[in-house]
Amino acid sequence: MRLGLAGTGRIGTAHAETLKGFEEVESVVVADVDPARAAAAAAKLGVETSSLDELFTAGLDGLVVTAATDAHPGLLIAAVDAGLPVFCEKPVAADIPGTLAVIDRISASDVPVQIGFQRRFDAGYAAARAAVGSGELGWLHTLRATTFDPAPPPAEYVAHSGGLFRDCGVHDFDIVRWVSGREVEEVYAIGANRGEAFFAEAGDVDTAAATLTLDDGTLATVSLTRYNGAGYDVRLDVLGSVSGVVVGLDDRAPLRSVEPGVAPLPGPAYPGFMERFRPAYTTELKAFLDVVARRAPSPCGAADALEAFYIAEACEVSRRERRPVRLAEVRR
Ligand SMILES: NC(=O)c1ccc[n+]([C@@H]2O[C@H](COP(=O)([O-])OP(=O)(O)OC[C@H]3O[C@@H](n4cnc5c(N)ncnc54)[C@H](O)[C@@H]3O)[C@@H](O)[C@H]2O)c1
Repeated sequence: MRLGLAGTGRIGTAHAETLKGFEEVESVVVADVDPARAAAAAAKLGVETSSLDELFTAGLDGLVVTAATDAHPGLLIAAVDAGLPVFCEKPVAADIPGTLAVIDRISASDVPVQIGFQRRFDAGYAAARAAVGSGELGWLHTLRATTFDPAPPPAEYVAHSGGLFRDCGVHDFDIVRWVSGREVEEVYAIGANRGEAFFAEAGDVDTAAATLTLDDGTLATVSLTRYNGAGYDVRLDVLGSVSGVVVGLDDRAPLRSVEPGVAPLPGPAYPGFMERFRPAYTTELKAFLDVVARRAPSPCGAADALEAFYIAEACEVSRRERRPVRLAEVRR
């Protein structure tokens, strides 16, 4: 299998290295809008490089898109038009109209598209979904999702991120849907700014909480911050009438019990998403090989990404207008 990769930044370089390590992948060709970056990544990883234009005539079997978000729509559409199965990091586009425009262009085609919600490939989240599906938890009364970054990204990133709900919470929104098997009907979200001023200057918040009401009446909370100095903390409590499970409560969770006789977790805490989700990224890209080879349908399509984006949008409206927002209000 010969795969292309567009965008050799942080996650692109990591994905290219993972792809190169798969037995089934014979060659990887990387490209970037900044050719020097692509050349540096290619030299470091020992893979081929090409210009962005030539990537589409490089004899590829599939394309991985890890470019900056505003390049996703163009690359996704170009790949589908060229008949190339495509994996694209989340999000599909920077906003809902852009996402709908991409879906409109690609839905007429039978070329498969996979969007990068890697939590679906994490062993813990998969076990939680299986526990819900088996009925062993009883009926769910509460889901509690947490995504806490240890330190804020640069001000420049925040200004173009789309805000905490779209940039960060979108992973929690996707996984609440996937684990529960339910849709979100209504949200009520709030935010706070106790950190650096550039969040408020960008119209964003550094900490947020959202209550989601699912279509069977289950309540979910999503809690987000950019300032969790103890470490990267991503968890999901799935609590039912019979039993409950917790995702992300392992030796490296950045938690410290103050109860007498409770031993501290050995750590070290995860410093960021790359360390926490490395196995999930590998499993996710392995699944993409099955998509490329047409052995399996896409495990996470653009319609799933759109649904998570609608929830983020509803939270953003709710936070700004300080009121509950039904999903029907933002769906188009
Ligand atoms: N799933 C996840 O956990 C996860 C984590 C991090 C980032 N992401 C997503 O991955 C994408 C990249 O994030 P990053 O942190 O690696 O960013 P980054 O800034 O480190 O890298 C982006 C790269 O894209 C290149 N680029 C920009 N426009 C391009 C174009 N038209 N064609 C080709 N290359 C282009 C840039 O030169 C840069 O090298 C973002 O969309 C982000 O939302 C997802």
